[in-house]
Amino acid sequence: MTRAKIIGVGSYAPKRILTNADLEKMVETSDEWIVQRSGIRERRIADDTEASSDLAVKAAQQALERANLVPEDIDFIVVGTTTPDMFFPTTANMVQHRLGCRQAGSVDVLAACAGSVYSLAVGSQFIQTGKYRRVLCIGAETLSKITDFTDRGTCVLLADAAGAAVLEASDDGSGLLDVDLYSDGRYWELLYMPGGGSRHPATPETVAARMHYAKMKGAEVFKVAVRMFGECATKILERHGLTARDIDLFIPHQANLRIIEAAVKRVGLPMDKVFVNIDRYGNTGAASVYVALEEAVSAGRLKRGDLLLLAAFGGGFAWGAALMRW
Ligand code: UT7
Repeated sequence: MTRAKIIGVGSYAPKRILTNADLEKMVETSDEWIVQRSGIRERRIADDTEASSDLAVKAAQQALERANLVPEDIDFIVVGTTTPDMFFPTTANMVQHRLGCRQAGSVDVLAACAGSVYSLAVGSQFIQTGKYRRVLCIGAETLSKITDFTDRGTCVLLADAAGAAVLEASDDGSGLLDVDLYSDGRYWELLYMPGGGSRHPATPETVAARMHYAKMKGAEVFKVAVRMFGECATKILERHGLTARDIDLFIPHQANLRIIEAAVKRVGLPMDKVFVNIDRYGNTGAASVYVALEEAVSAGRLKRGDLLLLAAFGGGFAWGAALMRW
C-alpha cells in the first residue's frame, strides 16, 4: 500500500523575540500570569516587511534541502494558513513561485489552528491515490498581523512561524497510517476575525471597530479544545487497535500548556511522550505542529519505526488527528 512518508522537515521563525516582560509594558498582564495560564515565556513576531509566505519559503527550503530534493521535484504544494499574504492569489502560489516549483499545483487550506493536520491530510491524499509522488506541506502564520495588542486575552498567546514537511510516496510500511478531520461550525463565534471578508468588507468603520483582529472567548475555547483534542486522539488509536502505550511521541498543537496537559491525561499519555515547545513560540496556529515536528526530529526524538501521533484544533471549530509510522 502506498503511503505518504515525511522525508524532510524544516521550520523558520522571525528573529524578533517578544518576551512576557515586553508584554507587561504593553497590556495589564504579568510574566507569572502568562506562564501559569498558558506555559508561554516568549514568542516570535514578524517585522513589517515579513508576510506568511516569506516564513513559509524559508521553512520549505530547509525541508527540501533535508529531503535532498530540488524545487522541480515537487508535484504539489499545500499551505495551511489563517493569515495569507493577501485574499488572493493564494499564499501557496507565492511559495510555488518563490521556490521555483515549476511543476507544482498549489492550494491554501484554511482550517485556523487545525491547518497543520488539515494540510497534511489534503497533501497526503494525492500521494495515496497515486496522483502525485512528492508533495510539500506547509503551515505558515503571521498571527501577529491580526492580533489586537490592546487585548490581553489574545496578544499574549498568538505568534508567528512556519514549518514544512516534504511527503513522498513510500511502500515500505512507514508513513501516514491514518488521518481524521472534524469540524463543528456551532462554535464559530468562540474564535474568529469578523472583518475583511464578504460578511464585513473593510471600511473605515470596520477598522475603527477593531474588526480586523482575532476575537476569542478563551475560557470557552479551552473547554471545547480539551474535550475534542482528547476525543480525536483516542478515536484514531482505538480504530487501529492501539493504546496510549503504543505511542512513542505525541506532537499536539501548541495553544496552551494546560490544554495539552489536560488532553493527554484524557488519552492516558505520560508527559515525557509529549513534545512541547510552546514556552518559546506561543501559539503559531497552522505552523505549530510542523515547527514542533522539525524540533523533535532535530533533537533526535524520533527514530525509524516509531509511532507518532499528531493532533490539532482551532477556530471553526476544526480539529483532527494523524497517526504516522516514522
Ligand atoms: O489555537 C487554538 C485557539 N486558542 C486556544 O486554545 C486558547 C484557549 N484558551 C486559553 O488558552 C485560556 O483560556 C487563556 C490563556 C486565554 C485564558 O486563561 P484562563 O485560565 O481561561 O483565564 P480566563 O479567561 O478565565 O480569565 C481569568 C482572569 C480574568 O480576570 P477576572 O475576570 O477573573 O478578574 C481575565 O480578565 O484572567 C484575566 N486575564 C488576564 N490577566 C492577566 C485574561 N488575560 C489575561 C492576561 N494577563 N493576559
